Amino acid sequence: MLTQDTMDEKIKEVARILREAKNIVGFTGAGMSAESGIPPFRGEGGIWNKYDPNSLDIEYYYRHTQESWNIIKEVFYNYFNNTKLKPNPGHKVLAKWEKEGRLSCVITQNIDDLHAVAGNENIFEFHGNMSRFVCSKCGEKFPASSIPLGDTPPHCLECGGLLKPDFIFFGEGIPEKAYYGSVHAAEHCDAFVIIGTSGQVSPANMIPGMAKRNGAKIIEINLEPSTYTHNISDVFLQGKSGEILPQIDALL
Ligand code: APR
Repeated sequence: MLTQDTMDEKIKEVARILREAKNIVGFTGAGMSAESGIPPFRGEGGIWNKYDPNSLDIEYYYRHTQESWNIIKEVFYNYFNNTKLKPNPGHKVLAKWEKEGRLSCVITQNIDDLHAVAGNENIFEFHGNMSRFVCSKCGEKFPASSIPLGDTPPHCLECGGLLKPDFIFFGEGIPEKAYYGSVHAAEHCDAFVIIGTSGQVSPANMIPGMAKRNGAKIIEINLEPSTYTHNISDVFLQGKSGEILPQIDALL
C-alpha cells in the first residue's frame, strides 16, 4: 500500500489533470456503490460467490422463471429494498461535477439507479436499471414501485405477459442508446475516470480502451488493481471511491 504522502501527491496530480480537462467522463462499476451497502459481484463478499450467475441468464429466466425469480427477488429486490439504498459521497461528487459542467456524463454498469438519485442527468445505463420492469410480450415498461414484487414472477398490467426487470441479463444485448452513447462519450473525452470495476465483463470492458485510444487521460480508483490498472490507467488511486473522490474534489 502507498504511503499517505505518495497518495496525496497522486491525488494532487489527478486534481491537476481534472482541472485542465475540458470533458470528463465517469465509468463506474459495483465498487462505486459498495459504500452504499451494495456488495460487489466478484471478490470478497461478492454476490456471485453466493449465487450462481447462470440464474441471471435470459434463457434460464424464460425456461426456469420461478427459480430465477426467487434469486432475483432475494438478491435485487428484497435486499435492495430492505437496505434503503442511498448515494454515497462518491456518487455526490460525480453529480456535483456534472452540475459544474466538468463531467459530461456517467457510463455505469450498475443497475441501482444511485447516480440518478444523486443528481446526475446524463447517464448511460450500460446494463439497464432495476427500478423498472419491461413486459417480454408487449414491451411496455413499468416503474418497479408499481409492480407487486411477490413470490411469483410478476406479469404485465396491460397484456398479462411475463415481466422482467429492465436490467441486462447474461446473454442479452446492450441497449443501443446506452452502447452508442457510451462509445461516443469515450471517443470525445479528454479525461476518463474508471471507478470500482474489475473490468471482467464485456462489452463494457472495451469502453475504457476507446477513451485511451482517443488520447484521454485514464484515472482509476479501486480497492484492488483491475484489468485496466497495468494496461491503460495513467494514474491508479488505490482505496475507497467514497473517500477518494471528495479528496480530489476538494482540490478542484
Ligand atoms: N471503492 C472502489 N472500488 C471498490 C470498492 C470501493 N469502496 N469496493 C469494491 N471495489 C472494487 C473491487 O475491488 C472490484 O474490482 O470494485 C470492483 C467490483 O468488481 P465486480 O464485482 O466485478 O463488479 P463490476 O466490475 O461492476 O461487474 C461488471 O458484472 O456481474 C456483472 O452485470 C454485472 O454490472 C456487473 C458486471
